[in-house]
Amino acid sequence: MDEIDEAHKRVLGLQLPTDPRWVNMAEMDLTEILTDHAYCEQKAATSCITIIQQYPEKLEMVEELAPIVTEEWGHFRLVLAEMKKRNLTLGRQRKDEYVNALMKFQKKDGAWEDRLVEKLLVFALIEARSCERFRLLSLHISDDELKDFYYKFMVAEAAHYKMFIRLAKKYSSEEKVNKRWKEYLDFEAEMLKTLEVRGDRMH
Ligand SMILES: [Fe+2]
Ligand SMILES: [Fe+2]
Repeated sequence: MDEIDEAHKRVLGLQLPTDPRWVNMAEMDLTEILTDHAYCEQKAATSCITIIQQYPEKLEMVEELAPIVTEEWGHFRLVLAEMKKRNLTLGRQRKDEYVNALMKFQKKDGAWEDRLVEKLLVFALIEARSCERFRLLSLHISDDELKDFYYKFMVAEAAHYKMFIRLAKKYSSEEKVNKRWKEYLDFEAEMLKTLEVRGDRMH
């Protein structure tokens, strides 16, 4: 692992670097990886809408997430446009084992506010892992246009990761969030080891 990898890992906190074979596998079939990516963006937009519906009284969060919905939907449209440019067709959504596993780890029995913090941490983690993977694609994919394409996503999702952590701390305490975040990071690293490395999945 080089210095930049180390710095990136420190910032995101992720405990397990993505398998280096993944980028090569992903670029073997761009229709598959772009389709999965498109739905990741759609789910990011949908999740923000859902959390706004569930917690309208958290007005500051609502105001912060409202433009993120637009941004994530804009990301979906960017992926769609990239596919069109390459004469590729968007496929159907597939089962998201990674996100499903994180959902299972979420504590669902706490107070309404505690559950909000759990949701924000899951969003933060998905953003952090997506950011790590976009970075790998931006560095190692052979197509130069795609390098630039993925670089932009890496930057955007890094900002979202930070925002979700900040929001979690706003509705809980720094100490509680740091402790729970560590548990999420440990769980995610172990869980990733159990998932097959697949080129047709972002996660
Ligand atoms: Fe996005
Ligand atoms: Fe995002």
